[in-house]
Amino acid sequence: MTDPKHDHTAMPMTAHPGATLRGTVEVPGDKSISHRALLLGAVASGQTRATGLLEADDVMATAGAMRALGANVQKVDRAWLIDGMGNGALMQPDAPLNFGNAGTGSRLCMGLLAGYDFPVTFVGDPSLSSRPMGRVLDPLRQTGLQVEAAEGDRLPLTIHGAPLPVPITYRVPVASAQVKSAILLAGLNIAGITTVIEPVKTRDHTEKMLAGFGVHIEIKEDGDGARHISVTGQTDLTAQDITVPGDPSSASFAIVAGLIVPGSELTVKNVLLNPTRTGLFDTLIEMGADLAIANRRVSGGEDIGDITVRHSQLRGVTVPAERAPSMIDEYPVLSVAAAFAEGETHMQGLEELRVKECDRLAVTATALAANGVDCTEGEGDLRVRGGKVRGGTTVKTHLDHRIAMSFLVMGLASETPVGVDDTVMINTSFREFVPLMTSLGAKLS
Ligand code: S3P
Repeated sequence: MTDPKHDHTAMPMTAHPGATLRGTVEVPGDKSISHRALLLGAVASGQTRATGLLEADDVMATAGAMRALGANVQKVDRAWLIDGMGNGALMQPDAPLNFGNAGTGSRLCMGLLAGYDFPVTFVGDPSLSSRPMGRVLDPLRQTGLQVEAAEGDRLPLTIHGAPLPVPITYRVPVASAQVKSAILLAGLNIAGITTVIEPVKTRDHTEKMLAGFGVHIEIKEDGDGARHISVTGQTDLTAQDITVPGDPSSASFAIVAGLIVPGSELTVKNVLLNPTRTGLFDTLIEMGADLAIANRRVSGGEDIGDITVRHSQLRGVTVPAERAPSMIDEYPVLSVAAAFAEGETHMQGLEELRVKECDRLAVTATALAANGVDCTEGEGDLRVRGGKVRGGTTVKTHLDHRIAMSFLVMGLASETPVGVDDTVMINTSFREFVPLMTSLGAKLS
């Protein structure tokens, strides 16, 4: 049956406790890097070749958008080939760009197109259409961008770049790699120097990749530790060969499962270990996790390694707000780990969770409480007092892939099974989640 609020036929699933998890797996490519490879490949000169690109719905929506803008994007054997249009040479699409559930793809693409003097309409699913776009549109308006949007700067919306867009200097008011990246991408097709000031460092894949494509990018730190990132617009980008490492956000589900399910020992290979993404692993180690990283190496300009975990008795810790940007997508699964830890885990600085695929702070707290976990939701923080987890209910996932995966992980170690009302959204980031967890021994039905 199609649920009108969900736009698709829901597929519920239940996770059963009791089986130990063992084995070695690889998770699919990093979502953030995959989006950026397609966007930059589309405006580069020549053919960009990406291996390990994430083939999940969110990234495929970005691939579709790049095709609609004129770039030829196709998979040949194991590689994705992107025939770039050249910087400034994207073409007006003849239909709205549909980004489905993809916040990153849509926001970065708004930036990429902000310097083009033609209209482009963005549409998405009910979750994406409820998320605030003003955070990227406001700075882009300062370049001269015209916007027609639904109430509160939400999708569906149409943007139209100025004939002569103006380069801006913008201090980002929230820690957001999407906002930073949208502005830097806009700067590519604006004559002059576009600068983003970032008081708190967020994932830096855009900066790294822009440099890789040959864009003149300068990064300076001021006395307060803020990063001033400047790009020079209207220069050529040169096509690149990109190897996309495994997504640490996807790896985190197997890693937390290995830590909370008694008797488990598992390895996730080739995981991206860029320090702007590893806050969860640092936190788990502080909580007493038996988590070891082997074979550390650099691949395609990014740190990667193999992570092995063994079942561990975790302890509650305080997770400071400064760490939030480096683990922003991992709080639902950290909350699950915290539910099995001794004592209280206090996660601070979680305001941004309220504007993710759903209000992740409220939805996580509600799901924990429904399964017998003692927790307190604050305005921008969450306290979880762990121990045994009763389980036994079906979690409402609100079109959020990470809520679905996190609570399936919980059900592998709770006293009674845990269900989720829908697993379809898992395809937005991690199609292989169910077979991968099952290959490790997880019982999912
Ligand atoms: C992302 C940035 C983060 C993160 C998202 C991916 C990116 O969003 O939650 O999953 O690739 O830039 P915000 O910029 O909203 O923090």
